[in-house]
Amino acid sequence: MLSRRSFLWASGGVTAMTALPAVAKRARAAAPELVASAHPVQLLPSGFPETSIWGYGGQTSGPEIRVNQGARISRRFVNQLPQASSVHWHGLRAENAMDGVSGLTQDAVSPGDSFVYDLAAEDAGTFWYHSHNRSAEQVARGLYGPLIVDEPTPPDVDRDVTLMLDDWRVDPKTGQITQDFGASHDLSHGGRLGNFISTNGEATYRLPVRRHERLRLRIVNAANARLFTLGLQGLDGWLMAYDGMPLTSPEPVPETFTLGPGQRVDLFVDVIAEDGVEALLGRIDQSKGYVQAIFPVSGSSSANRRLVPAPLPPNRAPDMTDFAEAATLRLEMSGGAMGSMREAIWNGYSRKAGELMENGQFWAFNGLVGMTETPLARLSLGQVARMTVVNDTVFPHAMHLHGMHFRVLAQDGTPGPLRDTLLTLRGESYEIVFAADNPGRWAFHCHMLSHAASGMMTWIEVTA
Ligand code: C2O
Ligand code: CU
Repeated sequence: MLSRRSFLWASGGVTAMTALPAVAKRARAAAPELVASAHPVQLLPSGFPETSIWGYGGQTSGPEIRVNQGARISRRFVNQLPQASSVHWHGLRAENAMDGVSGLTQDAVSPGDSFVYDLAAEDAGTFWYHSHNRSAEQVARGLYGPLIVDEPTPPDVDRDVTLMLDDWRVDPKTGQITQDFGASHDLSHGGRLGNFISTNGEATYRLPVRRHERLRLRIVNAANARLFTLGLQGLDGWLMAYDGMPLTSPEPVPETFTLGPGQRVDLFVDVIAEDGVEALLGRIDQSKGYVQAIFPVSGSSSANRRLVPAPLPPNRAPDMTDFAEAATLRLEMSGGAMGSMREAIWNGYSRKAGELMENGQFWAFNGLVGMTETPLARLSLGQVARMTVVNDTVFPHAMHLHGMHFRVLAQDGTPGPLRDTLLTLRGESYEIVFAADNPGRWAFHCHMLSHAASGMMTWIEVTA
């Protein structure tokens, strides 16, 4: 199914509404630095030129930030980039003022300046941090890293492994990232897809293991637009959590599973490959398979596999059973190539599709392009909202809600697991419910970052 080939050359203005956060003095003094800068790294396989990336701590993916559940995450973000930037803590249900969304929760941090982030890690699980200013460019250049919040009692696994999956668009001759971040074709189609795939910033990720070891794989899709459809070989186990939130009961890992941009999954997998064999995590593209991580097996850790794992301890689940009282919302996505959008409102005026395109705008939510003065919805604290999300385009979109997790309702109305990013497929519609239990201004956008940059960005306000 999977080939040994481990990398692929594929063919393939917001109003400033700033609420400046009051930052604890303690954090200001103590916070370790998180420095964003341009750095050359050997991203491509050896023999290819180095690539100048923009990264945190001079590396890609950025340094792991890891705290215990209930602790605070404090970092002084130091911007040594040639552009303004800010840091978003994707999936953390934390304070709005620390959410890092330039133009919505803070002003972008200018080159040479710094900003102290200090936020609570309420939930244990797999999260990530990334730039939230000009993200279509800045994340594509490498500005992201893993953010892990540990459970109070470590689960019974032998290794805890984070795998940040990404794709890059690089010129193999120069090794440099191509600077076509606003290319109309990407904006209007499936987003900026790369031609080089990495895991934790490496062309070939290898981790030696022993037979019957149990690995926790925390898989993060950090790509701008690519869907990763993954499968296992020589590994077998359970889906434990989506988007940082544990499942109430672990489910067997299906033959393939897909992560949209921004989404995560936690797996517990046992090495079942024989001694001397390579177990694999791979990507299934159409009928082809590519290796994303290699686990060479030598020796064994025990004669037998462990028993079925207990579920991870649940994070706080807001009560959202009260659908009857729920605010009813609707989000209709339109636009893009081969779409039917003829006109939409942008910056307060209705414009024809042609005029929008000339301005690099291709998508709309409910007929509105990009950020607006007024939010998609205003909810009062504690209110439950039920939203119909309609993908009336011919592309998939990964809708990410900041600050709160939601549940997708099954056909029969049963609420699914908590998630922060909803992968929607062309022509499909979805029902989600969430409790507006976190006050503030929350971004709600497509995590295909080129789409967010060309219209698919809005916000929800929760008022105390
Ligand atoms: Cu992962 Cu609004 O972002
Ligand atoms: Cu999209």
